[in-house]
Amino acid sequence: MSEISRGLENVFIKATSLTYIDGEKGILRYGGYNIEDLVRNCSFEEVIHLMLYGDLPNSEQLKKVKERINESYNVPPPVIRIMEELPHDADAIAMMETAFSALASYYNYPWKKGENKERALEIIAKASTIVANVYRLKEGQKPEIPEPSESYAKSFLRATFSREPSEEEVDAMNAALILYTDHEVPASTTAALVTSSTLSDMYSCIVSALAALKGPLHGGAAEAAFSQFLEIKDPSNVEEWFNENVIKEKKRLMGFGHRVYKTYDPRAKLFKRYAEELARTPESKKILDIAERLEDIGIKNFGEKKIYPNTDFYSGIVFYSIGFPVYMFTSLFALSRVLGWLAHIIEYVEDQHRLIRPRALYVGPIKRDFIPLSSRN
Ligand code: ACO
Repeated sequence: MSEISRGLENVFIKATSLTYIDGEKGILRYGGYNIEDLVRNCSFEEVIHLMLYGDLPNSEQLKKVKERINESYNVPPPVIRIMEELPHDADAIAMMETAFSALASYYNYPWKKGENKERALEIIAKASTIVANVYRLKEGQKPEIPEPSESYAKSFLRATFSREPSEEEVDAMNAALILYTDHEVPASTTAALVTSSTLSDMYSCIVSALAALKGPLHGGAAEAAFSQFLEIKDPSNVEEWFNENVIKEKKRLMGFGHRVYKTYDPRAKLFKRYAEELARTPESKKILDIAERLEDIGIKNFGEKKIYPNTDFYSGIVFYSIGFPVYMFTSLFALSRVLGWLAHIIEYVEDQHRLIRPRALYVGPIKRDFIPLSSRN
């Protein structure tokens, strides 16, 4: 009998030069470069070049990436109008799905080697416009198109909040963009790959990926983790909350556990450092304190099962400290991961393309005699 790999665990669906993960040692590298080096020393635009073109750019190459992004922030006005029609309390990722579906109506480009990466740069720019306006429209503000600035992170924050972000905020946003860029083939990237394998257009691939990212077991976990901290309310309640919810009620500790990492997620370490640097207000300090206590208790209880904090445990505190409400966390993840999705589908379609069409093992009745409706009990 054929074997089913539940959840496709340990199934390899493609080769990649994009992201290397050692889940036992907690190592993450993009194109061979350690994640910490990239976060500490690079702009997101440099990482865009690395993921799409295979190496970190020289100054000329970086200039070209920036130029292409800067000239592509515009989206057709009806796309924004469609977003404006959505209810203010719409889910942020649902709004992104709608916007990207609308964009697919304008940009239905066929796959073409030599043009795919240029298209990807345009999509990365338009993603910034869409995510900034998800926030603005939900907050009842006028739509805004990002303007070119020194960096993608800065243009995005400016357009979102209509204010000059601090250097520290831009640095944290840039770091978050890099940290969430890619993680091999999680559910969302796999969804994008399945869609790309039919040679559907790139925008539609992003819609597939967004739909998969939305769930609390994947991209939705940052919002779920942060909501736990809010529910706990005070650091003194952590132990009681953990015993009641995780031990007694057997609820999952959100922001903990990973299919690939069997140790501390290296991204969580870096997000934690940024959270510690950014949490300045009494409220954010309290939330950080709650998170750190919850981490200790979580590791004490689950460490033996190799369940540790994942990237979503501390990222919310970083986003919250920059000024984002909880409902934006998954879209911020998506803003960054658009790059990983695009890099993977381009790698797949250009170099390894084949229709993805797995099988299901049939376990129902083999053959039954047909019974007309009038004779059924
Ligand atoms: N809290 C409590 N128990 C957990 C957790 C958790 N966060 N994660 C795994 N477990 C336990 C399960 O209960 C199960 O225990 P059992 O064997 O005694 O039944 C065991 O670990 C294995 O769980 P699976 O769900 O089979 O493991 P999988 O590899 O599918 O888990 C997942 C990965 C879905 C991420 C899981 O750890 C989880 O639900 N975490 C919470 C949600 C979360 O933080 N998701 C974000 C992941 S990172 C990202 O997508 C960016």
